[in-house]
Amino acid sequence: MPAPGFPTLRMRRLRRTAALREMVRETWLRPSMFVLPLFVVPGTGVADEIPSMPGQFRWSVDRVADVCEEAWGLGIRSVILFGIPEAKDARGSHADRPDGIVQQALAVIRARCPDLLLITDVCLCEYTDHGHCGLLAGDPLDVDNDPSLERLAAEALSHAHAGADVIAPSDMMDGRVGAIRAALDGGGFDHFPILSYAAKYASGYYGPFRDAADSAPAFGDRNSYQMDPANRREALREVDLDISEGADMIMVKPALAYMDIIRDVRERWTGPLFAYNVSGEYAMVKAAAANGWIDERRVTLETLTSIARAGADGILTYHALDAARWLKEG
Ligand code: PBG
Ligand code: ZN
Repeated sequence: MPAPGFPTLRMRRLRRTAALREMVRETWLRPSMFVLPLFVVPGTGVADEIPSMPGQFRWSVDRVADVCEEAWGLGIRSVILFGIPEAKDARGSHADRPDGIVQQALAVIRARCPDLLLITDVCLCEYTDHGHCGLLAGDPLDVDNDPSLERLAAEALSHAHAGADVIAPSDMMDGRVGAIRAALDGGGFDHFPILSYAAKYASGYYGPFRDAADSAPAFGDRNSYQMDPANRREALREVDLDISEGADMIMVKPALAYMDIIRDVRERWTGPLFAYNVSGEYAMVKAAAANGWIDERRVTLETLTSIARAGADGILTYHALDAARWLKEG
């Protein structure tokens, strides 16, 4: 399509009024594309603000449904739950207990918000005393892939039984999507969708989350299972693999430093694509805004719009409540 040049063409013609700009806008945010992450802790009456994530809280089960109701009222249609268990051990045995923290939260939220889509994060790092996303073996100790799959599958099945709508494995073990799919199908949950953290990078941007979930590895790092930030083509292999194992939805994580990956996956995958606007991305905006260095509302909406423009259908974001409120205000 050959375009005329200047002065026949003047790009500013379509930027002259707000109505015109709105008419030609290509990307729109809606509250229903946001997924609100929530941290659930033992106890009652707990609303414990996370120091490195201002405005985000660890909620006890009796309080978490209040936030869910608020989110629903603002047009948000889904939350993702992270559990901080009563006790941790080497196997993460609290992860698949019928009375586990996430399982309890699912029941309470379901009763108060029957139509809210409840996603659960499936991983072991919140439940293990060593803080790794799988089981350990060997000398020196390392994450042992295949035995971890059984634990992850048990956790996923337990969340399904407790009333989750979608499970989202974030562990980055090889073969976990297939193992979880088989466990769900075998347990009578063949209708149950998997949102896979398919391209998840070993990122410094998860720092505040690990404070919140008390899930930092006790030794070493996650470099032997999460992806190297330097790799782009490898993300497509991870995505292909997860799709072949039965993932229904795909996630790229983090979002901002990985916009090229979001775009690459978008061009490859016709199904639903999500991006996780992670804790460190949130913390940077909040810190700069608190100092008066940036306009929080403007920067947040610009960031979320850009993630959508890069190709994400949905965004997991701690800004969800604020952004939904701002969108409502117009
Ligand atoms: C657990 C998990 C992490 C996040 C989501 N699920 C932390 C990690 O992998 O260390 C990070 C989310 C965030 O930073 O907001 N595997
Ligand atoms: Zn983990």
